[in-house]
Amino acid sequence: MSRVRYHLTPPSNWMNDPNGPILVDGRYHVFYQYNPTAPVWGPPHWGHVSSTDLLHWDEHPVALSPRPGTHDEDGCWSGCARVVDGRPMLFYTGVVGFDADRIEAVCRATGSADLSTWCVDPQPLIAGPPDGQPLTGHRDPFLYRDGDRWRLLLGSGHVGPEGPVGTVLLYESEDLEDWVYLGVFADASGWKTDLETGALWECPQLLRFAGGDVLIVSVQLPGEPHPLRHVLYAVGAVADQRFVARHVGLFDHGNVLYAPALLEGADRAVIWGWVQEAVPAPDRGASTAGALSLPRIAELEGDRLRVRPADELAALAGPPRPDVPTSLPAGGAFSIADPGPWFELRLRIDGNAGQVVIDLHDDVSSAYAIVVDLDRRQVLVSTRADAPGVPPQPVPLAEEDTLQLFVDATIMELFVGSGSAATTRCYERPDRLLTVRSTGGARVTSLRLSPIEHGV
Ligand code: FRU
Repeated sequence: MSRVRYHLTPPSNWMNDPNGPILVDGRYHVFYQYNPTAPVWGPPHWGHVSSTDLLHWDEHPVALSPRPGTHDEDGCWSGCARVVDGRPMLFYTGVVGFDADRIEAVCRATGSADLSTWCVDPQPLIAGPPDGQPLTGHRDPFLYRDGDRWRLLLGSGHVGPEGPVGTVLLYESEDLEDWVYLGVFADASGWKTDLETGALWECPQLLRFAGGDVLIVSVQLPGEPHPLRHVLYAVGAVADQRFVARHVGLFDHGNVLYAPALLEGADRAVIWGWVQEAVPAPDRGASTAGALSLPRIAELEGDRLRVRPADELAALAGPPRPDVPTSLPAGGAFSIADPGPWFELRLRIDGNAGQVVIDLHDDVSSAYAIVVDLDRRQVLVSTRADAPGVPPQPVPLAEEDTLQLFVDATIMELFVGSGSAATTRCYERPDRLLTVRSTGGARVTSLRLSPIEHGV
């Protein structure tokens, strides 16, 4: 099986959430949940990579490791990075204990100017959940400035009249030392959506645009066979101490993207997510597990959050293959043998009826397919290894829309030009045959397949 090449993966073993992406002195630093000892989740450390161009990444020593006998002895869970008075700081979740006995504290480490060494405060900033609150989580600190104060969001869940509901908690501080609990910042009550809002919210992120605020939460259903359900965004406004939502949508329409994290310190909203494995590494005999998505830019358009690949990624792909036609008429089809495991496919699609079907086959049958349905104005993605659990959701399609598919060995990251994405995994070696065909009145007005030689 070919290896993931241009998405970030751990040096070996396990990666989950991206943590604390931050731009400092022209360098992008990304930390991530890292288990250095096995390709399965285990006591999380913070791995660390950096880049000046979002394309080439340098690996750095592990930034945070669990320290026996302290408030992070069982794990340094997710959080964020900020520069405060010129000093880089990591705000993370220090964990002691397991399951129902687990204590999740908000902790801080202060870094050297080059962010290579970190010194953890002797005591947590917030030692655990507020007294008397039956909360199911108290983790993944996200800090933002509100006037002359700091506000801190945490992922949590509480038991409402109809059972457990995902929750974001709010704390406030003037000096980052003394914190006051202000209560529930957001939960799904009052959210008008049919999407599953879950029982536990993780990794809250707040994006502040001129046209409104966007809250992103990763939705868990603890105890379910596939608990990490999906990522929701809510567009609305922070009013007093609560987030009021006016539109709720999916951050990614696939089934493996989770725990996205927002870059700090830039004048654009760059976001990375964790691309889960759909089949656990030990079941595949693989020595590494997990990857980060490509950096994507989020923008607010009316009440919708739009995502697209960061402009820098235009440099990933080489020249288009000359044996691929540059367009397809209605009813047309083409196929090529061996598109390879690493490529970018771009299409512009026109028409009001019919379908364009993109199919990647392994030796036997279709391994990954995209159906662009112009009658229903949606894009459907399917893979044979459709885990974890929930199938990908239909992706909305605009008129004369474009598709940009990044294939990186087992990762299929699809961007629809009108602003949606669907990330999936496929382990069936979909590098043997690529076919594109159109039916009905659907036309492919531009088509390009470009191999990607680049590695991080
Ligand atoms: C999300 C998450 C976070 C937690 C971390 C632990 O995937 O569960 O809530 O901090 O992973 O690795």
